[in-house]
Formats: sequence, C-alpha cells, structure tokens
Amino acid sequence: MCGIIGYCGQKPAVPIIIEALKRLEYRGYDSAGVASLSDGRLLIRKDAGKVDEVIQKHNLASLPGNVAIGHTRWATHGGVTQLNAHPHSDCGGRIAVVHNGIVENNQQLRQELTKLGHKFTSETDSEVIPHLIEDELKSGCSLEQAVLNIAPKLEGSYAFLVMAPDNPAKIVGTRRNNPLIVGINATDYYVSSDALAFSQYTNQVMGLGDNEVVMLTQEGVQFFDPKGNKLAKQVRKLDQSWAESHKGGYQHFMLKEIMEQAQMLGQTACQDGKTFTKIALDILRANQVIITACGTSRYAALVGRYLFSKVGKKFCDVIMASEFGYFADSVDKNTIVIAVSQSGETADIIEGVKAARDNGAQVISIINRPNSILADLSHQVIYLNCGAEIAVAATKTFLSQLAIFYLLSFSMVDAFDEATAKLASLNGEITRVLDWNKSELIKLSQNLKDKNDFYYIARGINFAIASEGALKLKEISYAHAEGMPAGELKHGTLALIEPGTPVVVICPADYTFSETLSNAIEAKSRGAYIIGVSDKESEVYDSWIKLPKVDELLYPMVAVVPLQLLAYYLAVNRGCDPDKPRNLAKSVTVK
Ligand code: AGP
Repeated sequence: MCGIIGYCGQKPAVPIIIEALKRLEYRGYDSAGVASLSDGRLLIRKDAGKVDEVIQKHNLASLPGNVAIGHTRWATHGGVTQLNAHPHSDCGGRIAVVHNGIVENNQQLRQELTKLGHKFTSETDSEVIPHLIEDELKSGCSLEQAVLNIAPKLEGSYAFLVMAPDNPAKIVGTRRNNPLIVGINATDYYVSSDALAFSQYTNQVMGLGDNEVVMLTQEGVQFFDPKGNKLAKQVRKLDQSWAESHKGGYQHFMLKEIMEQAQMLGQTACQDGKTFTKIALDILRANQVIITACGTSRYAALVGRYLFSKVGKKFCDVIMASEFGYFADSVDKNTIVIAVSQSGETADIIEGVKAARDNGAQVISIINRPNSILADLSHQVIYLNCGAEIAVAATKTFLSQLAIFYLLSFSMVDAFDEATAKLASLNGEITRVLDWNKSELIKLSQNLKDKNDFYYIARGINFAIASEGALKLKEISYAHAEGMPAGELKHGTLALIEPGTPVVVICPADYTFSETLSNAIEAKSRGAYIIGVSDKESEVYDSWIKLPKVDELLYPMVAVVPLQLLAYYLAVNRGCDPDKPRNLAKSVTVK
C-alpha cells in the first residue's frame, strides 16, 4: 500500500525522490518523507499530509546528497501523524528505513527490543526494522549483512530500504511478498515498489526474488541470495507505455483514464490468437474453473463467468480473493484458477493463488502492471496492455479486463478473430457514449450531489456493471451506493426507497429489458428517481443515459463508461478528490 523509492548515483538525489513520490502517491497519500545522506550526516524530513504538502512544508527540495530514500504512506499501524510517517530511525538517528507491508510479529519484536533498551518513537510496525539493524551494525557487520541477518526475524510481508551514514553511499533493500524493482541508467541506480517511479529515466530493470537482498552503491548494483551469496541478474526492458504519468490536460487522472478507454481497448485486444485458443482449451478441459479477484476486478470476473457460460458453455465460479483460502480444500490439480488483478500485488489474491498452487492448480492471471508478484506465481499471464492506471478508482483496466474475458470466451468456440473484430467496432461506440451523455451526466451530478443513497440495478451480464457503477460512486464520492440484480430489489432493498432516491437502472434493449423495466417501475412507484441507462427510451426514466445499440454481450462495455463518468462528476461536485479517495490505496498489499 505504501510506496518506497531509493536513488544512488551522481545526481542530486532528493529531486529524483520527490518526483518519484509524486508518481508513487497512488499507493498511499496520508504521509510522506525523505532521508538523504550528505557529508556523513543523515537528514530526515517527514510529515503527515499529501506529498506536495510535505514537500512545501519541509522544503524537501533543499536537501543535499546523492543518495536518498523516500516513502509515501497508507497507514496500517499507527495513526496519520508526523511521528508515524517514514523514514523511521534507530535510537541514535544513524539509520533510516522506509517500509511497505506489515511486520506481523512487530509487537513481540518491539517488546524484545525495548527490554534491550531500545527507545521507540512511533506506533508503527516498521520501526522495529531500524532498531534490529542498529544491533547488527553495533556488532560490526556491514549494512547488507545486517539486512540479511534481520530479515528472517520478520514475519509478514514487506519490502524495505535502509541507509546509514556509517555505511555511506549505499542503499540496501529486501522484499518478501511485496514488490521491489531496480532500475539502472549508466551510473544512476534506482529501487522502488514500482518501476513507474523511475521509468522516465530508464527502462532497464531488474527484479528481486522473495528474501533476496539488493545493494545500490555509486559503483553499481549487487544482488544477494538469503544466505549472502552473490547473484547474477538479467536486465529486462520495461514497456515504455509505463513511463507516462501525466494528466494529459485533464483535471484528474481518473477523467483522463475514462476518456482514453476507447483507444486502450484497441491495445488490449491486440493479443495472440493461438495463445488464447490454447488457454481457452485448457479452461474447457479443466474439471473446475475458479476465478478469483477483489473489488472492480471481481466485477470483471463476474462478467467473465457469464461470458464463459453463455459463449463457451463452461460453468465457473467467482470467489472473492479474501475468501478464497477458505475454499482451498476443494482446489486440486484438475482445477484452473484465473486470478484477475490490475496491480498483480493484491495480498488477498497472492495468498489465495499460493494456496491453489500448493494444491496443484494451474494458475492463469490477467494483470495490467508488469513485473508483479502475481505474474511470478502464475503458469500463464495475460497482460491488459492498457498502460499505467494512476487514479485509485479503476476504470480503463476494468474495460480491458472485460475485453480479455470476451476474447477468452470466444476462443472457446474457436472465434478469437471474430471477437477481435467486434472489439474493434466498439471503439467508436465508446467515444459516442461519452459524447452523447457528457452534458446530461454533468447536469445529473449537480442535481444529485446532495443525495447520500444510490441503488444500481441490472440483470444477467449487466448485473456486475450495476455493482461496478455503485463501487465507483462510493469509493470516490463517499455516498452509500449498492448494486444488485434487479430481481433482488423486491427481496429487501425496496424498503429503503424513499421519494427522490436515485435508482440507476441498466436496461439495454435485450432479453432483460421488460423485466428490468418492471423492477424500475416498482421502485418508481415508491418515489424513486429513475436514471435509465439504455439504448431504448422509456417514460419510466426521469433521466436517460443513452447507450448505442450493440451486441447483447457487449452492453457491459458501453454501459459502464457513463457510470464511471457519473461517479467522477458526482465526486467533483461533492468536493472530493477522485484521484485520491480517503482511506483507499491503489495496491492493497495487506490482508
Ligand atoms: C477499484 O476501483 C478499487 N480501487 C479496488 O476495488 C480494486 O479493484 C481492488 O482493490 C483490486 O485491485 P487489483 O485489481 O489491483 O487486484
């Protein structure tokens, strides 16, 4: 959830760290901090607040030095305060550590260290790391050896970076179940949770395995296995689409990412037909198929389940990743697990996939972010190829996930090319849906901005779109929103409908139209304000979001786009920052 970055080289380090923190802010934005080494001194500045606020308040740009580390925080242990912000230090202020993840045995370690005389200044789990290193350094070992020695004492998942003036011009890092990637450009060396942090400087990257240690000096990068043996690593090339991190003239990343969806769909659809056909056959042959995912990715999975059943006549189950472990007993070598994750980092998914692999399952992943932990755990990876998604709320990656499921399901009936052609035709429809509805959505968001309860209903393949529309709204507007199958409304939720309650009804002119409209009428009879999302007008709608007529199985892709835009405009009208919703982070690397 947090973002960490280190730089070691010939250039002034802190401006590079500041730029990286801005790029990493999607991972957490409640506090930020920097430590740099200059003339044998360790300089630490940190505070609660967004990266820009901390930069201004502490004049971070003025910090000297060619070696520095930085952190952007999403609080897990300890409140959002200056003392809990990273970097954390040891008793003597001679060590700086930035950490992403959770040290699960931190209480026990803290007690042991306190008994030995260590003084803690924060409530974080992370602070045990510099204190453990302090003791190792006192016994005379090098910083890299200290990290190798303490890592086995830490339980949980982590990636951390450490530096110390007694080991000058050096950054040491390690990871377990949390990402850490190294970038190299001539005599400049970078290490971060995400290559996006330094991708404007280099596309030459090297990954770090679980429990491996990396040391950055001004002379180069050295990797070690957990026993301290030196490791040779291959340099990989990073896809340049990951270098971009600008808003392209839009007010927010979320708006940019909504608007570029049509174009990104084309990139996603550019897949290898033979590979898809092979994967599709494997899915058809498997005794059981389970799709696991969280949040938005899970709603894409629900559409996928529908497509597999409708097109490929293959039933599969979708299990929330946080619950997947409880079903691990019924996973075996004849099971295919499809893990869907934008980030490839979500802790719940990683845990579930590991359990599935232990039971012999084949794992196929659908991921956007390159070089992820999930990719390393998978037998086969399908990439979305839709570029970096910065806004916390997923938009373009959702559409791309739907496209992948569409391609996979058509590949089950040997119709990959037909699916590619149909996806290509959607490009214009998505642009049209945005053009047609923009002003209606702006007006609607102004009228509804003070409403605090929204309901979204749909049937069949579009039920997941109702859920996704509601999730988008609640995560960025802080309004209560629920999505449900339209038929379920009368089984309880109807009790909550009051005069003026907004009910978004997704009812394309397909086989679900009449029944969904009947459910809308039931809500309207109780006073609901009906927002119809359809290609067919109706007097039932108080407001109409117009969809183009498309193939029945493609409605989810055109229907979700205006719902994303509605959520965006509602958030802006309610005074919320859609890119940085409270209490959320883009990569959820804790359970
Ligand atoms: C999306 O808008 C959400 N921020 C969230 O639900 C997200 O989809 C979920 O945390 C899963 O993330 P992943 O796709 O990276 O695994």
